Amino acid sequence: MNEPPRLHGGSFAAWSRDRLGLARRGAAECGDVWQLEPGVYVAATARPCEAVLHRAQDFPKPPSPLFPPLKRSSGARTPQERAHAHAARMRGLRPQAVAARIGEIAPRTAQFADQWPTGQDVEILPPIRHALAEIGVRYLFSEDAPTLLPFASQLFLAREVLVRPSRWVWPRWVPTPARRFRTRQQVAFVDALRPIVRRRRSSGRLGDDVLGQMLRSSSRYGLLPEEAILDSLPGITVATFETPSRAAGWILLHLARYPQAAGRVAAEATLLPADPAATTSTHLDRLHYTQALVREVLRLYPPSWLLTRRVRRRTQLADYTIDAGATVLICPYTAHRDAREHSDPDQFQPERWLDDSDSPTKPGVFLSFGTGPHGCEGAALAMAMLTLLTAQTARCYHLSEPPGPEPGYQVTTLEGLAPVGLRLRATSRSGGPSCFQ
Ligand code: HEM
Repeated sequence: MNEPPRLHGGSFAAWSRDRLGLARRGAAECGDVWQLEPGVYVAATARPCEAVLHRAQDFPKPPSPLFPPLKRSSGARTPQERAHAHAARMRGLRPQAVAARIGEIAPRTAQFADQWPTGQDVEILPPIRHALAEIGVRYLFSEDAPTLLPFASQLFLAREVLVRPSRWVWPRWVPTPARRFRTRQQVAFVDALRPIVRRRRSSGRLGDDVLGQMLRSSSRYGLLPEEAILDSLPGITVATFETPSRAAGWILLHLARYPQAAGRVAAEATLLPADPAATTSTHLDRLHYTQALVREVLRLYPPSWLLTRRVRRRTQLADYTIDAGATVLICPYTAHRDAREHSDPDQFQPERWLDDSDSPTKPGVFLSFGTGPHGCEGAALAMAMLTLLTAQTARCYHLSEPPGPEPGYQVTTLEGLAPVGLRLRATSRSGGPSCFQ
């Protein structure tokens, strides 16, 4: 049997000491697919990453441990119900649906920029998260957002506690304090959401937001059971702002480090209307360079840098044989830094995304949102939020890093990549108190 090469010095212990470093070394020394420990393989370059993500029959996605269905719900959800819930959410999250709501998102990203305290060093991730949570929760629940927003921050906290690295990995059924806290927050959120679901259903005013789409009957699947809606929305709620805020942190750091690029974004942002509420998808589509910059930061620092799949049956991957029961870790981080796919892969070059002749048009070279049947549902929403936030912030301010230690990065157990201790200082470009009307 032809097994993927084992990385010399690779082990779980070495992995937990420096995951990004080991991932880079594995890709450099072993190539497309390598073995970390017996039965644990890393897909390190674009082609095997894509293959695994698309072949969901051979490489199923394990269930998310974050917000599993509550015990009191009607039991395990069927694959058909999951497909129905996914299709319903996508009606509210697809690019056309997001495009129609740019005028709601832009005032909130502008408010974030407008309220940034100038002339002082600010720890920026908490206010970003707060701003993006407001946008995300409003996007999902429209006028019911004020009722649910307070629960969103608690769900986020529950998630943070759960993903904190720990010495022990407890079996799923052990009710650790973190899991009990998670369940309490999930129950509180669901208890607040249930009356909203019932009120909308009984009044017939379902709403045009994502929840409204989930309440609509589909010709293919019929009506989605209430518990399926309630089970899926805690995770989706956190998804609207958790990963995007990690991404926004990396982006603002790059605006501070690359003032020329920030100047170009600021110049482009003058194409946006002075009144943020008048912003449309046409304005957004004109921000070519800003979108390229966002994409470039997501390439270099994919906020979800490692994805997990199980192997259902013995199968082939990149000329190797992989046994049933093995784990495959898909690594967008190393796939994005492959010199065969991107010239000068470690360099920050937003222009590469503007040049049609460069590699990004080839499939598989941009995996920050995943791909295949489990690709990110919120990619269009995330790109809209991040592009607006980036343009409006650069339009208002020069950003700089305060002197002192460089912000580090944090790799969470659930394979998130976040800048930690990120402090930035904003100086007004206009000198005036506000850059919006
Ligand atoms: C910069 C922001 C974001 C990044 C980098 C990101 C990244 C990803 C990635 C890599 C996956 C694939 C996971 C896998 O294959 O195992 C994913 C899945 C998903 N994302 Fe995002 N995401 C972002 C924003 C959002 C937003 C705003 C939402 C809002 C609804 C969202 C909802 C989801 C959902 C529901 C899935 C699961 C899809 C499935 O399993 O079928 N994401 N995301």
